[in-house]
Amino acid sequence: MARYKIAWLPGDGIGPEVLEAARTVLDASGLEAEYLPGDIGWNMWLKEGNTLPERTVELLKRSDCAIFGAVTSKPPSDVMQELPPRFRGKGIRYSSALIRIRQQFDLFTCLRPCKAYPGNPGNLKEGTDIVIFRENTEGIYCGAEWPRVPQEFFAVRGMERVSPNAAVSVRAITRRASQNIARAAFEHAEKHGRKKITAVHKANVLRATDGLFLDAVREIGREHPKIRLEEMYIDNCCLQLVLDPLKFDIILTTNLFGDILSDLCAGLVGGLGFAPSANIGKSWALFEPAHGSAPDIAGKYVANPIAAILSAAMMAGWLGEKKKAHDIEGAVAAVIREGKVRTPDMGGGSGTLEMGRAVSEKLR
Ligand code: IPM
Ligand code: MG
Repeated sequence: MARYKIAWLPGDGIGPEVLEAARTVLDASGLEAEYLPGDIGWNMWLKEGNTLPERTVELLKRSDCAIFGAVTSKPPSDVMQELPPRFRGKGIRYSSALIRIRQQFDLFTCLRPCKAYPGNPGNLKEGTDIVIFRENTEGIYCGAEWPRVPQEFFAVRGMERVSPNAAVSVRAITRRASQNIARAAFEHAEKHGRKKITAVHKANVLRATDGLFLDAVREIGREHPKIRLEEMYIDNCCLQLVLDPLKFDIILTTNLFGDILSDLCAGLVGGLGFAPSANIGKSWALFEPAHGSAPDIAGKYVANPIAAILSAAMMAGWLGEKKKAHDIEGAVAAVIREGKVRTPDMGGGSGTLEMGRAVSEKLR
């Protein structure tokens, strides 16, 4: 019997093809897993009026962890326009499947490594090696939103400046989630010999929420005196990352800032094709390339599967298969170094599955 039960969630757009390539690599690594396919994403919104059907949630609960390709998500006006008429008028509300899983399974850590692999033509600065720890369950993603300001809000200080014809999103930051993500970052630093954590925030403006975040980070920092804690405003952080990414080691931040910074950092190391990620909770995790579904190139098998393959390596590592994780990453690094197989984003003409095969061959 297979050792691990892994929920397999291809999703939308290029999701299925990048996972197909990742699968050849997982098989070549010899990971003893059973892969259980699950429905998810925009295609399910169109078919069932639900991006994350209950049967998929049940499947996730039965699995050891999940790997996910990509999902399409769209702004509210498009979402309702594209909902098939038979689902309309039933009070169906759209929500992102990915955000729902992160919140429902309390996957409070979003871990996103950004590494400049030698030989990658897209590297802006050789030697870049940054790990982002993004809080993954709350902040402005908490889901408390109003398309019109509720009347009772007008009693709150600051609201007198807001016209009733406005929309409101709440940015909720808890001490618990801030401590959780800070602990994950400090423990990772200790375990992997990293020296410095940069806590990124905007506490000079978002005084209540980022004030609390920073406070929780400092508190956890005191428990880890060997790791240097640096604090930086989000705007300055963007500037410094572009000027000198080598100054950074681990970045620790809240949800939306982490979303933005992880795209920025991916841009430093060749783009989203090189940006894997892990969503980790206490005992379950979901692995996914940080890229979206790229509908413009979907079905053409030209997407770079490296982000998905590196996500699969992170999954093997999380399952305790450290050697396999290390070998897969080494195989990716070797293919990039050789430069013979390159997808179009790297300036080459190789396809998605060709890249998957090249990495797999290094493992055999
Ligand atoms: C990511 C994505 C998601 C996010 C979207 C698809 C909801 O951009 O994983 O970075 O904003 O977290
Ligand atoms: Mg993003």
